Amino acid sequence: MSHWIGTANRNYASYAMEELRKRFQGMNISQLAPGETFKMEIPLDRQEVLTEIHRSEPVFLRYLQPVDGSRTISGDADDLDWLSDAVRLSRSKLEGQRTGIHVRRAEGSPFAYSAADTKAVLDAVLAESGAEPEVRSPDMLVAVYAGREQLYIGIGSVADMLSDWPGGAVRFQREEGQISRAKFKLLEAEREFGLNYADFSEALDIGAAPGGWTSLLLERGLRVTAVDPAELHPSLLQYRTLTVLKKNASEVKFVPETFDLLVCDMSWSPMQMCRLVLDLTPSLKAGAAAIVTVKLMHRKPLQTIRDVIAKLEESFTVNRAKQLFHNREEITLYLTKK
Ligand SMILES: C[S@@+](CC[C@H](N)C(=O)[O-])C[C@H]1O[C@@H](n2cnc3c(N)ncnc32)[C@H](O)[C@@H]1O
Repeated sequence: MSHWIGTANRNYASYAMEELRKRFQGMNISQLAPGETFKMEIPLDRQEVLTEIHRSEPVFLRYLQPVDGSRTISGDADDLDWLSDAVRLSRSKLEGQRTGIHVRRAEGSPFAYSAADTKAVLDAVLAESGAEPEVRSPDMLVAVYAGREQLYIGIGSVADMLSDWPGGAVRFQREEGQISRAKFKLLEAEREFGLNYADFSEALDIGAAPGGWTSLLLERGLRVTAVDPAELHPSLLQYRTLTVLKKNASEVKFVPETFDLLVCDMSWSPMQMCRLVLDLTPSLKAGAAAIVTVKLMHRKPLQTIRDVIAKLEESFTVNRAKQLFHNREEITLYLTKK
């Protein structure tokens, strides 16, 4: 038996739970923060659970912290002492490891300390335990969750917790003159899927306006063909590596095998998006990558995702399907052309 806390995007916890229930027969789930965070008791040991999660990562599970210990929150310094002792007792796991501390509090939690204060105290305990407190690229994480009644602590690797951001809430700095918030989605996809833009040179962006994704691809040194009936931001027109086609994606045709990267963020009906992407596949080189957002317009997102994947598998291998933190009513697919 092992215990866990899972987190999904707001309002998507029920789908994350549905995915997990299908994989882990006989598990118990209860909500901690409605719609977002939930507690699980799974009748398998920790390693068995992780092996299953890594075999094929669930779409809606953003963050998965193991629960090594829990206690009823007292609302005073005893809570902090208990957390500090738990870190000290894990010395053997953390010694010499770059270790991050993630602290999250549920709304209305009686836990008396802010995330920053808790982290400062635990960082000091880490240092005295021979671990290296690390924020930027930790290998190990100490994850604390202060709920409405219980305080939880779990220690594990970043890879096993699925994100190096507390709760999987990825935060990027907004840039001066940033064209659209949509750019964050592609930045997050780049990190999450381990894309290396040096592998690509010629990108096709359909549904490109106002141009957040196009701007990132241009900044990464790719040549970009941007297709959208709407206007692109004028600041992009300075790029000589940009070709703009002010058209509907269904009207454009290209020389076969022109592009090695397709990106598509059209906010459109999923099946129409599939049709457009499939019609454009002859213009992609074999092995080309594609990053595609899928709008979850219907009440049954898991069914929509299954249908879209089945359709796209006519021409693509689906490497990953993930609801990124920056995806609202949608998920992101990472595909490779067969
Ligand atoms: C969410 S926005 C894209 C945002 C963009 N990724 C960015 O980073 O700024 C969706 C865009 O898809 C475009 N679009 C919708 N249907 C399209 C189609 N059939 N062909 C081309 N563009 C389309 C819309 O005009 C709109 O500009």
